[in-house]
Order: sequence, then structure tokens, then C-alpha cells
Amino acid sequence: MAHYDVVIIGAGAAGLMCAATAGQRGRRVLVVEHAGKVGKKILMSGGGRCNFTNLHTGPEHFLSANPHFMKSALARYTQWDFLALVERHRIPYHEKKAGQLFCDRKAKDILGMLLEECRAGGVTIRTKCAVRDLTVDSPHRIATDLGEFTADSLVIATGGLSIPRMGATAFGLELAERLGLAIQRPRPALVPFTLPRGQREELAELSGISLEAEVRCGDAAFREAVLFTHQGLSGPAVLQASSYWTPGTPVTIDLLPDLDLEETVAAARRNHPNLHLKNLLTDFLPRRVAQRWCAQRVPDRPLGQLSRADLQRAAEHLHRWTFTPAGTEGYATAEVTRGGVDTGELSSRTMEAKRYPGLYFIGEVVDVTGHLGGHNFQWAWASGHATGEAV
Ligand code: FDA
Repeated sequence: MAHYDVVIIGAGAAGLMCAATAGQRGRRVLVVEHAGKVGKKILMSGGGRCNFTNLHTGPEHFLSANPHFMKSALARYTQWDFLALVERHRIPYHEKKAGQLFCDRKAKDILGMLLEECRAGGVTIRTKCAVRDLTVDSPHRIATDLGEFTADSLVIATGGLSIPRMGATAFGLELAERLGLAIQRPRPALVPFTLPRGQREELAELSGISLEAEVRCGDAAFREAVLFTHQGLSGPAVLQASSYWTPGTPVTIDLLPDLDLEETVAAARRNHPNLHLKNLLTDFLPRRVAQRWCAQRVPDRPLGQLSRADLQRAAEHLHRWTFTPAGTEGYATAEVTRGGVDTGELSSRTMEAKRYPGLYFIGEVVDVTGHLGGHNFQWAWASGHATGEAV
């Protein structure tokens, strides 16, 4: 039975960062990956270009039952540290918007960099290696398809539940449950909303249209693109809001966040009393959206003949379109999983389970979920690095 200082389960973003860090500190490291390839989510991320970090990453860009938990790891391995690594590997990158850094070429540049760092640390990586049995002990015992191993430190880096076809499993959560660790209920996040059937049919003709809007869910508000889909709504602003959504709660969208509709209409009424609202709105909204909105809510009469109540109703529907999503598209398309191993069970400095010395949870399996825009990878790098320094 081969013995390692550290066995890491899951060769994704957090697992590879942890492996490289521990290996370069002289630890004997084995990474066990059940899929045929490592880092699949890195390769598919950011539309194939990997939005690998964000210049503005900070605790305010994360959701967790404990909003302070991520602070220590993020402060000790920052976006600037990861960027320095990217630059050391001469990977060309650019800022797309709002601090989001993407590869100029392909996401495989980032995966290649992590694998090179693992090689520099003498890390052994085994793919197509499923875990058959696991005993959390001193040392830990890991029985796999490729033999049995023991380890002083065991790191669970198996990620969240999103995109099962890419190899996502509930391994980490099931292990936590078996050990009696508290779990924050997992659910899909950064995920498109679906609409109730009637509303979906009403808006079907808008499918494919995107516009800038402000989406509000509870106290959270995001101003970015909204995309009408066959199922409902997507686009960055909707994905961001979905992380704050709980079933049954309403979502409000301001389709004209830069405009005071009542003021604009009052001015247009004076100058162009024969203009129809749907035509006025095409100055501010895609034509089909303007027409559909007015067809549903405003009498088809010139502005001069619309009552104050008509105009107030139109303004209300455009500035505060409120609906209750039927649900979300679920893990099949969710970018991340919200919830996970309760941070109260872990040391914020090392990610070690307080009740199980030598057992660590890192990355998305932990109840720390980032906003869209590179924050989730920065959490994977930071938590992986924190544990890599500790094991
Ligand atoms: P990750 O999922 O990367 O790795 C887990 C690994 O564990 C996988 O290799 C998996 O196969 C393996 N595994 C699972 N169960 C196992 C088991 N039982 N035994 C052995 N191995 C097992 N974030 C961001 O910041 N910028 C972006 O551009 C994107 N883009 C993006 C696009 C899409 C389509 C998705 C789905 C997600 C993103 N993300 C993102 C989110 C980002 O990919 C995610 O937050 C990180 O990959 C999480 O890193 P982890 O290492 O925790 O899990």
C-alpha cells in the first residue's frame, strides 16, 4: 500500500492548485481524479477562454452562511498572486470588463500552467481512478480502482454538483454527511430562470433578444445584460440574481434603468401627440420588446390619447416588471452550486475540518459561492493554496 503525505480527491481548479503548492513545499502528493481528463471545467470556462480571476475580487463578491469565512484565504492568496503566476508562465490575457481577466488564447493555457506547476512539485496525478472506499483516520485510507493508498492529509476537492455530464458528483457532500458535518443545502446558482408556461408562451417571440437591465432579487441588484430564452431568462444579470433566489420569491426587472419613462412620455406627448408609445420606446428598447410590452399593457392609441393611469401602468411594467420564476434550469446548466460544507466545520485559515484533523475541504464543495466574473476561480485558487501551505 503506497503512502503519501497528501492525497487530493478531484483534479479541478482547487485540487490542482493545492497539489502544486504542497508538492513545491516538498510534500509527496497524489491527486485522484475519477474522470478521464483533469480540469474539465477549467477548459470549458469563460466560453473556452477561462475568466481566471477578477481584479476586484473581495469578500463582498461571495455568498456564504458566514460572510467572513473566505476573507483569510482570499487575503493570503490574492488575484495579484494568481496574475503573477499567469505572467510568469507568459500567458497572454486581457481584461474584458469590470476586472474580469480572460486568456487571449484558450483556457488550456491555465490548465497547462497548473499541470506544469504540479510537475515542478513532483505531484502524481491518476485519472480514471474512482474512490471505492475511504476511511478518515490517522493515516487516512483510500481504496481506489488503481489500488489502495494511505495519507497523512486528505483533501476533498471534488467541486459542486453543476454539469453532471462533466464529471460533477456529490462525493464531497456525501462524505461530509457521513462524517456528521453540517451542510448548507446545495442548490444551483448562476443559472437561468424558467418562467411559468403562460408567461413563457407570451414571451416566446423575444427569445434570443438581449438588453441591458437591472435585475433585483431581495436586496441584491445587478445591472448587466438580460437575455430572453425559450425557457425564460438568462444573461449575466439574471445569472447573478439567481444565486440569491429561493423558490417562490419574486424577481423585479427594470427594463429601462437609465430612463424616467413618465418624464420621457410627458415630453413626447407635448411634442409628438400622435406618436404611439411602442414607437417611442424603440428609441430605448429592441423593437420587438417594445411592441410586445405595449401590446400587453397599453391601449394602442397615440400618446395624446393615453390616460395618466395608462402611462403609470406602462411605467410600472417597464421599470418594475415583477414575476415569480417557475424555477431554474437546474444543475444541467448552472455554473456553480450554492451551499456545501458548512464553513463552521472548517478552519478559515487552512480549510481543515475542526473535528477531523488531517481532513480538508476546498473549492466549490465548501459553502462559498462567488459572483459571476472570475471570483469562483479565485476562491478555488485561494482555498487550494491555503490548504497546500498547511498540509
Ligand atoms: P472543479 O469542478 O473544477 O473540480 C472538481 C474535480 O473533482 C473534477 O475534475 C471532477 O471530475 C472531480 N471529481 C468529482 N467527483 C469525484 C470523485 N468522486 N472522485 C474523483 N474525482 C472527482 N468560474 C470562474 O471563476 N470563471 C469562469 O469563467 C467560469 N466559467 C464556468 C463555466 C461553466 C460552464 C461552469 C460549469 C463553471 C464555470 N465557472 C467559472 C465555475 C468554476 O468552474 C468552478 O467554480 C471551479 O471549477 C470550482 O473548482 P473546484 O476545483 O472546486 O471544482
